Amino acid sequence: MKYRLNSNNDPATDNQDCVVVTIFSDDKKLVLSDAASSLDKASNGKIKNILDKGDFKAEIAESLMLYDVSGIKASRVLLMGCGKQNEFDIKIINKVSQATSKIIQKTSIKNISNYLTEGSSKDQQPTAITQTVIAFADDLYQLQDYKSKKEDAPSLQEIFIHGIDEDAQTALDQGIAISEGMKLTRDLANHPGNVCTPTYIAETANKLADSYQNVDIEVLEESDMKKLGMGSFLSVSRGSDEPGKMIILQYFGAKDEKGAKDKKQQPIALVGKGVTFDTGGISLKPGANMDEMKFDMGGAAGMLGTLKACAKMQLDINLVVVLAAAENMPSAKASKPGDIVTSMKGITIEVLNTDAEGRLVLCDALTYVGKYKPSIVIDAATLTGACIVALGHHICAVLSNNDALADDLISAGNTINDRAWRLPMGEDYKKQLKSCFADLGNIGSGGAGTITAACFLGEFTKDYKWAHLDIAGTAWTGKNATGRPVPLLSQFLINHVNQTK
Ligand code: BES
Ligand code: MN
Ligand code: ZN
Repeated sequence: MKYRLNSNNDPATDNQDCVVVTIFSDDKKLVLSDAASSLDKASNGKIKNILDKGDFKAEIAESLMLYDVSGIKASRVLLMGCGKQNEFDIKIINKVSQATSKIIQKTSIKNISNYLTEGSSKDQQPTAITQTVIAFADDLYQLQDYKSKKEDAPSLQEIFIHGIDEDAQTALDQGIAISEGMKLTRDLANHPGNVCTPTYIAETANKLADSYQNVDIEVLEESDMKKLGMGSFLSVSRGSDEPGKMIILQYFGAKDEKGAKDKKQQPIALVGKGVTFDTGGISLKPGANMDEMKFDMGGAAGMLGTLKACAKMQLDINLVVVLAAAENMPSAKASKPGDIVTSMKGITIEVLNTDAEGRLVLCDALTYVGKYKPSIVIDAATLTGACIVALGHHICAVLSNNDALADDLISAGNTINDRAWRLPMGEDYKKQLKSCFADLGNIGSGGAGTITAACFLGEFTKDYKWAHLDIAGTAWTGKNATGRPVPLLSQFLINHVNQTK
């Protein structure tokens, strides 16, 4: 799909197959957007005439396709309802764009001229453009590798999005970059566990590094991790025949005042949980929906996708991305409940439940990343079922040792329609992780599973500003990966660059 900017202010002269415009409903009265008004004028009041019949209520995502309206160059006009004008926001743009995409895909339309961003305030225009691209790309996504009969490709090839001010092109480019990052994330996560192994993630990361001159990669094998003392990570990967991998990518995009590459600028670190299948290990999970545990590498996939988006935008920032990739299996070599392991940091851990493996692979990754002296560390992980109980599938959890960082993540998420909600941490919760024999237990007693999991990680992140995203509810819905939290993190990094400039 090609996404382009359309700066034509006269939609009646657009020469695409279909012009898509917004209609609002305010107190039962329909309100035409500027583009809809221009079409109405060009057609001598035809649009208003049709709306006066009263069939179209302009409810959110309601649609009406018109054909061959005189005075309008395009052979089709698609009216899209957007609800109340004063309630119009980024979420509605997403919803209406996805609905539009579904309608267009059923037709033979090859290109559209899209005015759906109209109605957002002037300062919201850029994010509206970004969101439109994300929404269409999201809806058009599919992974067909495993179907022997492929579906026909949609005839839609080009989407022209209305945008006139100077930020419009940047916003469009950001939307394209974020969508590509999301696609990588979704593909990786949707591949089944017998394909997407730790080795496969390493190969995918290698390809990404190959395609950008300023992305470097290094992969730690189990033997390297043994030397580094990563006993916690290895206690998970040991149960599987698939070798665990710690994948480290570095993106050098930061520039100094003179515009020269600044490799020394402190990086932001992104750490992802990459459990390519989580059976629970010896603390075996129940069978229902266990297939979904192929998505347990969603954190790693999200971080790789975010890196791709940043590299595509060539953001002025340095990043270090660490993917902790392992498979959690029961076997004769697997950890047993009660086993005690020693992490790279030296903290000993009693593995009370082998199904709490995410924190075991992450804690060594979080210790390792310290050597890059990151200014900020963010991890993303499908870490706890408790997170779904707390926030469902709509919003991810953020837990942090730094208030400003948590606020920045939440506000980036609000901007780009990929929301996060903060949960507390603290001494009382940390105490729930007490172990009789080791420094820490890997599970907490007494509830608040998402918080105690974060407190466990917090024992390894004391040297830097850190935030943890629990994406257990948002990395996939139903049986399909969502590409989250790529939008949230990409927006956070874009904002970070803009703030420090
Ligand atoms: N990967 C799971 C968390 C998960 C479960 C994510 C369901 C999405 C859907 C994680 O490794 C896990 O099993 N966590 C346990 C922790 C418990 C043993 C303390 C959980 O949430 O049940
Ligand atoms: Mn688990
Ligand atoms: Zn897991």
